Amino acid sequence: MIIPYFRSSSRDFTLLQGDCFELLSQFNFHFDMIFADPPYFLSNDGISVQAGKIVSVNKGEWDKGGSPEQIDDFNKKWISLCRDKLKDNGTIWISGTYHNIFSVANSLTELGFKILNVITWAKTNPPPNISCRYFTYSTEFIIWARKSKKVAHCYNYELMKQLNDDKQMTDVWRLPAIAPWEKACGKHPTQKPLALLTRIILASTNKNAWVLDPFAGSSTTGIAANLQKRREEIEDLKVYSQFRRKIKDIAKSETLMPCLFACEEEPIMDLPF
Ligand SMILES: C[S@@+](CC[C@H](N)C(=O)[O-])C[C@H]1O[C@@H](n2cnc3c(N)ncnc32)[C@H](O)[C@@H]1O
Repeated sequence: MIIPYFRSSSRDFTLLQGDCFELLSQFNFHFDMIFADPPYFLSNDGISVQAGKIVSVNKGEWDKGGSPEQIDDFNKKWISLCRDKLKDNGTIWISGTYHNIFSVANSLTELGFKILNVITWAKTNPPPNISCRYFTYSTEFIIWARKSKKVAHCYNYELMKQLNDDKQMTDVWRLPAIAPWEKACGKHPTQKPLALLTRIILASTNKNAWVLDPFAGSSTTGIAANLQKRREEIEDLKVYSQFRRKIKDIAKSETLMPCLFACEEEPIMDLPF
C-alpha cells in the first residue's frame, strides 16, 4: 500500500516519496495533465556562473547520464509509465535541453503521442557564458504532447490570447529564470519558476483537473496548481500566496476570467491512496 509523504486536508494535494518507476506502476488512476521535469543528464562536471560566482553544473547523482542508449531507455520507460496514467484526452509536458530533449521527442513519437508544440522558454536573464567560445545558453524546451492522435485535448486558447495582449500566444515564452523570492523556503538545484508552471497549467487544464508530476523536486507544479485554485490552498503554501501578484499570468487571468478561479465544486474523483 502506498502511504503519502504529505496530503492536504482537502485530499487534493498529495506528495509521494520514492522512485517514480516503482510508484507509477503501483496505482491505478488517470490524470488530466502531466508535467515532467526529468533529469536532463547535463551533470558532466562542467562549470557555469551563478550570482557572479563560478559554480559546478552538477545537480546531483540523479542527473548523471549514461550512454545515449541508456538515456533513451530511461526516457522511454518513464514516459510509457506516465502514458498509462493519462486520461485519453490528457496531455503531457516535458522539459529539457539538447542533452535529453531529442531522446524525449523520439520516445513520445514511438509511444504513440502526438506532439502539439515545442515551447522555447527564452530566459530573459540567462547566466553569462564564461568561456566566450560559443553563444550564451539562454533557452530550455518544453514539449507538449497529447496521449491520443484522435482524441481532442484541452487548450484554453482564448485565455492564452488574452494573457498575450489579445494576440495569439506563440511557442516562444520570454520568462525570467527563478527569482530569489522563490527560494525563500529552500532552494532546489533545478527549481522551475512558478510563472512557467502557471502558464502551462492555465493553458492545458480546467479547474479541479488532476495534475501529476513524476519528478516533483520542490513541487513547483503542485504549488502552481494550488495557486490557480485548481486545488484548495494548504497551509504550507501561504508564503507563496503573497507573491502571486508577481506572477503576471495569475494576476492577469484572475481579472480576465474570475470563473476559472472559482472553486465551489469538490473534485469528483479521489486518488487511490
Ligand atoms: C529536474 S528536477 C525537478 C525540479 C522541479 N521541477 C522543481 O521545480 O523543483 C528532477 C527531480 O526528480 C528527482 N528524481 C530523479 N529521478 C527520480 C526518480 N526515478 N523518481 C522520482 N524522482 C526522481 C530528483 O531528485 C529531482 O529532485
